[in-house]
Amino acid sequence: MTSPSMQTASSPRRPPPSLPRPNEACWCGSGDKYKRCHKEADYLFLRDEQKRLEATKIRPGVISPRRPVPPEIQRPEYAESGEANRGSGRLIRTSEEIVRMRRAGKAAAQVLRTVGEAIKPGITTDALDALAHETTIKLGGYPSPLNYGKTEDRPPFPKSICTSVNEIICHGIPDSRALQSGDIVNVDVTVFLDGVHGDTNATFLVGEVDEESQRLVRVTRECMLKGIEAVKAGRPISDIGRAIEQHADAHGYSVVRSYCGHGICEVFHNDLQIPHYFDPKANTRMEVGMTFTVEPMINAGGWQDRLWEDRWTVVTADLKRSAQFEHTILVTESGAEILTQ
Ligand code: MF3
Ligand code: CO
Ligand code: CO
Repeated sequence: MTSPSMQTASSPRRPPPSLPRPNEACWCGSGDKYKRCHKEADYLFLRDEQKRLEATKIRPGVISPRRPVPPEIQRPEYAESGEANRGSGRLIRTSEEIVRMRRAGKAAAQVLRTVGEAIKPGITTDALDALAHETTIKLGGYPSPLNYGKTEDRPPFPKSICTSVNEIICHGIPDSRALQSGDIVNVDVTVFLDGVHGDTNATFLVGEVDEESQRLVRVTRECMLKGIEAVKAGRPISDIGRAIEQHADAHGYSVVRSYCGHGICEVFHNDLQIPHYFDPKANTRMEVGMTFTVEPMINAGGWQDRLWEDRWTVVTADLKRSAQFEHTILVTESGAEILTQ
């Protein structure tokens, strides 16, 4: 039998999520009371873990002034006021809209590629924003996040892309923080072109990244692909989340519940919601001609999220890492067409 002190000296052992009371039997199966077995070691383990989490926490940096968009670029309805409309409620797109969605999707994919190639230790997320902003405009598009999403309890989004580092789940605001080797960063690009939006994101590794984070990023991409594979006209939307959740579960990860995929076309986020976990209430049937995003956010720890004071940045409650991938898709006769390839 191994004594707890020996065990913790060489390899600290993760305590179970719910701990016994001091006089109850220890969780390790030794038969000893918890207070005389793993209690002390668990306390030290959890304290060290908390310290490590606090030391690696991302903190807000300085946000640069708003980048201008040349007057000849066609703007979405919220570009001046910040307030978006909800759309007509029509979810089936015309063939003419689909042609435009393909163009906007391709442009978004190109911006994402360009930004991805610039990612390296030392570059700030603000510099990535500048590059995305400039590339979007060169392609004739408007960067959809810029001035989007004002409500009673939050200001409009101030930048042209979202950059979400490590424990940031989504909607991170580009700022003066330089990326560090070992970080993972999600870049979320949406382009408004010819009256419609194309929305795509990917998580990138910065320099040398630990194996566990690499696995999180790989499995998250697989989750998105499994979600897209589940797209089939006639089937309920809930099939998508079921496929994603199954794969995340199998790898010991959790699926973010507070943020979903969304219908998209002339409106950035319309009323159609795509949960990435299994939700039996998501019983709307998929139909040929629908366009929506599949964008699972997968957490290394628990699914719970918290909002920063800026009212945009979403982080994991346990400060463990989170990854995400996104495509905009069209429901076709045979499955899904990826519009942001
Ligand atoms: N692109 C994000 C999505 O996938 C939305 C960003 S909204 C913003 O839905 F305002 F934060 F940009
Ligand atoms: Co989206
Ligand atoms: Co997006």
